[in-house]
Amino acid sequence: MAIQSTITLNNGTVIPQVGLGVFQTPDGATTVDAVTVALEAGYRHIDTAMIYGNETSVGEGLRRSGVPRGDVFVTTKLWNDDIRAHRGQAAFEESLERLGLDYVDLYLIHWPADGWQQAWDDLQAIYAAGRAKAIGVSNFQRHHLEELLANSDVRPAVDQIESSPQFANQELIDFAHAQGIDVEAWSPLGGTGGNLLSDPRLAAIGAKYGKSPAQVVIRWHIQRGVIVLPKSTHAERIRQNFDVFDFNLTGEDMAAVNAINTGRRNGADPDTFDF
Ligand SMILES: NC(=O)c1ccc[n+]([C@@H]2O[C@H](COP(=O)([O-])OP(=O)(O)OC[C@H]3O[C@@H](n4cnc5c(N)ncnc54)[C@H](OP(=O)(O)O)[C@@H]3O)[C@@H](O)[C@H]2O)c1
Repeated sequence: MAIQSTITLNNGTVIPQVGLGVFQTPDGATTVDAVTVALEAGYRHIDTAMIYGNETSVGEGLRRSGVPRGDVFVTTKLWNDDIRAHRGQAAFEESLERLGLDYVDLYLIHWPADGWQQAWDDLQAIYAAGRAKAIGVSNFQRHHLEELLANSDVRPAVDQIESSPQFANQELIDFAHAQGIDVEAWSPLGGTGGNLLSDPRLAAIGAKYGKSPAQVVIRWHIQRGVIVLPKSTHAERIRQNFDVFDFNLTGEDMAAVNAINTGRRNGADPDTFDF
């Protein structure tokens, strides 16, 4: 197996660049199996959230895999209702309890819901206590990041945002990178129910390397320097999505994937979300 790539976050924490996303992966056997298959395939990074309802099964998958806890990077997130209710620290403890862990590697504010400024104070306390090895945000636009940076000495390690060839979100990525904040791409394959992977341009590029459209897209994310969180519940796809460390897209092929950009989101807009 080729060596996977990692990124060193702004506080020195090392994050594997490809992680398994488990949004819409049902709790129970489906999540336990997805996590164990991923860890067997070499993944060392799982991205969950309280609102995905599967933290318990993520923890069970981790334990069942036999991979040492310290070798796996686990992310979970503080949900909007808990942000609005100022329940940051209590909600974090509940997540740890469900995961069956005594720390997470990364804890994120899931959306910039009203009260996120206090939530950031809560995350800093969690970080200072060593219960999260790194803290960050998700769905923060440039103006949210500017407000946070103007008011906090602790820089978020990451901003997890929508990004795919269809909605590259490159300006926000460039801004975050210029601030020393790494970016994680959500819906990196265009999301559930999307049509990105049937784009014939991706199949044509993949044919040159003997790779699938999904592998081309994941490789594109890796080469543009973002962390990428593909989700699948199918063992074969989970393995396929990690088999991306033995080829390099040429500059021409990177440009051809860039050209797929429509500038239209597949998911909710962080400035107008209503949940
Ligand atoms: N922070 C946030 O607000 C936020 C929002 C959305 C997502 N996320 C994170 O990002 C992760 C990924 O995003 P996402 O779940 O929205 O979508 P995604 O990973 O872009 O796409 C998932 C879809 O692609 C399919 N798929 C996966 N691998 C494939 C392959 N090799 N070939 C063909 N189809 C394939 C999956 O089908 P099957 O499962 O049926 O295989 C599923 O329908 C989430 O799981 C979550 O961890 C975060």
